[in-house]
Amino acid sequence: MKHSDVNEVAKIWSNAFPKPFASNISESKKLIKKVLKENKELCFVAVEKKDIIGFVMGYKFSGDIVSLGPIAVKREYRGKGVGKALVKKFEKASKNMKYSAILLTTRYIGETNEERKYEASLFYERLGFKEVAKSKKKRIYFKRI
Ligand SMILES: CC(C)(COP(=O)(O)OP(=O)(O)OC[C@H]1O[C@@H](n2cnc3c(N)ncnc32)[C@H](O)[C@@H]1OP(=O)(O)O)[C@@H](O)C(=O)NCCC(=O)NCCS
Repeated sequence: MKHSDVNEVAKIWSNAFPKPFASNISESKKLIKKVLKENKELCFVAVEKKDIIGFVMGYKFSGDIVSLGPIAVKREYRGKGVGKALVKKFEKASKNMKYSAILLTTRYIGETNEERKYEASLFYERLGFKEVAKSKKKRIYFKRI
């Protein structure tokens, strides 16, 4: 990811969720800029025909544990393996940097399939992450790499 990608990436992030969960674009831009500045080697975009269609970012959590997120794929490109490819890229980069586990949080809405479709929890479970805890608002996932 380059600094010139920040506006497009922030747009994708602020549009990533349906209305009640959407984030503010200027807040998104601030977050993306900060994470990119401090962790360039853990930030990637997915590109199709020169357009950015998704991204992943991360930063050191503690010791040999890296934190993954934010991550998002443009709506019209979801379900085609782009998110999975971004997580794989992130895992590879993290491993090369000698991290040995990934931690991430995702929103907790509920246990039914209807509620979980507003979460990314099933996506992470498909990619081998295990839920290790949950609060009223968040699920925490972990994966050794
Ligand atoms: C979560 C997100 C990044 C997934 O990206 P994607 O490109 O659609 O995911 P992929 O097509 O690579 O899917 C990978 C696997 O997860 C599964 N999966 C993805 N989203 C899923 C969902 N909502 N429910 C169930 N399974 C899902 C796919 O079926 C696929 O399984 P397979 O490997 O067995 O075929 C994307 O939906 C998104 O941007 N969501 C909004 C932002 C968001 O929630 N970010 C995470 C915040 S913590």
